[in-house]
Formats: sequence, C-alpha cells, structure tokens
Amino acid sequence: MRTGYRIGVIPGDGIGPEVTREGLKALAAAAEVTGFHYQLFEYPYSGAHYLATGELVTERIVDEWRTLDAVLLGAIGHPAVEPGLVERSVILSLRFGMDLYVNLRPVRLLAEHLCPLKGKRVGDIDFVVVRENTEDVYAQIGGHLKVGTADEVAIVSGVYTHKGTERVIRYAFELARERARARGMGGRQPQVTLVDKANAIRPQSIWTRVFAEVAEAFPDVHTDHAYVDACCMYMVKTPEMFDVIVTTNLFGDIVTDLGAALQGGMGIAASGNIHPGRTAMFEPIHGSAPTIAGQNVASPLGAIAAVGMMLDYLGEKDGAAIIEGAIERCLVSRRIPSVDSDSGLATTAAGDLVVEQIRATRRPATTASGEAG
Ligand code: IPM
Ligand code: MG
Repeated sequence: MRTGYRIGVIPGDGIGPEVTREGLKALAAAAEVTGFHYQLFEYPYSGAHYLATGELVTERIVDEWRTLDAVLLGAIGHPAVEPGLVERSVILSLRFGMDLYVNLRPVRLLAEHLCPLKGKRVGDIDFVVVRENTEDVYAQIGGHLKVGTADEVAIVSGVYTHKGTERVIRYAFELARERARARGMGGRQPQVTLVDKANAIRPQSIWTRVFAEVAEAFPDVHTDHAYVDACCMYMVKTPEMFDVIVTTNLFGDIVTDLGAALQGGMGIAASGNIHPGRTAMFEPIHGSAPTIAGQNVASPLGAIAAVGMMLDYLGEKDGAAIIEGAIERCLVSRRIPSVDSDSGLATTAAGDLVVEQIRATRRPATTASGEAG
C-alpha cells in the first residue's frame, strides 16, 4: 500500500476546524479524481488547546513537522488567550522555525460580481503578493521598559538582511517568469513590483539595492516600484498594473487583507508559506473569527483554495487546477453566492458544492484514493 504525501493538519481555533474539514473533503475528492495518495497527521495546537492543557508547540514538534511534505493550518487565535501568544507559538514557529521565507498570496478575482471595485473585470485583478516571511518587525526584536508607567518605552526593530531580502526577491522574479510562461505567447510581459517605504524608513533601502542587484539576472522581467501607501491606492484604482509584488513581512500582511477584499472577501484568500524544497505550510488568510465560530456559516473557500495551493506545491498540478476550477465554477454560477458568512449557505453545504464540482471534473480514470492515517 502506498502512503503517499504526509500532510500535517492543524485545525486550530474558531472557524479553523470547520473550514479545515471542508478543505480535507476537497483534498479527498481531488485524490479520487486524479489518483494521488496521502496520509494525514492531526495536531491539536490552538488557543483552546493551550487553555485546556497549557501546551504550546515545542522544538520536537517542529522537528516532526520538518519530516512532513506539507502542513495545513486552519486558523489560530482565541479571545481568552493573550493576543499573539498562540499565534507566535504555532504560526510563527512554522514560518520562522522552518525558515519558510516566502509567504505566497495570490490575489485573483474569480467572479466579477464579487469585486467591490467599480468597473473591474476578472482579468483586471490577477496578481501575486510575495511577502517576506521571516524578518521585519515580526522577528520579535524589541520589548518594553517601565511598563504601565508614564515613562513606558516600547521598542521594536525591523530586521532586513541581505540574505533574507535576496532570496525572497529572487523567488518573486522566478515566479514572474513562471507566470508569464503559463500565460503563453501574446500574454503580458512578466513584471515584479517592489513595495517598500524606503523614503521614510531609510534602512529599507536595502530592499531597493538588493532588488536592483537581483533584477540584473532577469533582463526579461520588467521592474516597477511603489511605496506601500501608493501601492494601496493603486490596488484599488489600477490593480491591473500588478503581476508579482514583492514586499516586506509587515507590508505584505497589510496589503494582502486589501487584496482579499478585492477578490470578494477574506473568505476566499489563501496562502502558502514556502521554502522551496522543504515542508511547506498552507493556510487561509482569514483568522479564527470567534464571533461566527461553531455556527457552520464561515466560508470554507479560503481553506479549500489553500489545499489547491498545497497540491500545486507538491507537484499535483492536475489536482490543484481541478480544485481551483471547482471553486471558480461555484462562484461564477453563484451556486456559492458570496465568500463571507452571509452567503446563506452552510460551511458544509458550500464545501459539498465544491466537492461536487471536483467530482464532476472528467479525467482519464485512474485507481486509488487518499486515506486518513
Ligand atoms: C496573517 C496573519 C498573521 C500575520 C497573524 C495571525 C500573526 O495576520 O497570516 O496574515 O500577521 O502574519
Ligand atoms: Mg494578516
């Protein structure tokens, strides 16, 4: 018996378990249609688990994750736990502990009626944000002094290394080339836009310089630059100008929530945390949404799209395309009317509709299916 891909699953908090369940249904259906195998390894880490057991992620667990092919994460964040504690333990252990230096966040409008912008069509919003994922103010360098007094001081440092900047910028250039190849002849020229705030935050000029250095090796790729404030404005006014954006950790965090809104909402956006050649982690961009948790109303599409991105990373290109196509058909046909908790559809019903579309995808019959382990 083949065991296939070894996939870790961290359902997490709030709506995490509900949407992850739908993601796994889509995974099983894609495995049936295309014939790949996999085994699941579930992990309990979450705010709720921390409250119940005091347990956080340990080095041993991160070592275990390194032996997997990929990890799927639902959402982390619990209202009764100090903000950031479990997020740091789980999400940042994965990103920093496994040195997953690329946070890949596609921004693609799948159905015109979902876009909040006037007059924008499907092809107008189709870019990818490559968010640096291991440095910046997320590096936890800083702290407090004289907490709670009138003399309190809080300091945080943004860390940008040559190595960290170079590798993520190079990834962005390679991705732009790959996307242009996929568009084929007659498609637009590959382009990478550097987004920073090097006018106000002068140490960010390391990004400007490294970007220029890396660009030399990619003469076929057009380069562009926007300060992050202007980038937000362009994302709303002229999103069609973007192909690949590369940016710092914090700016990438911020602009991808805006990017999610351009696609219809947080309920559709997915991301991959990647270090090419290593275990990667995939997650919806949304959080644990405690106010709607347990009500079976959250959109599962972000989690399902994350499964699609995972299959693409694992080399299961057919499975990835089938999942993406299934989501797209559900949205274009309005069988799934929106990507938020007001769609009128239960989380499970939306998941069923996507699974139905996956199963309806015709592919030369192969044997085998995935199994839980
Ligand atoms: C994200 C989230 C996280 C981040 C939080 C939960 C720490 O907002 O993945 O975008 O800031 O990276
Ligand atoms: Mg975020």
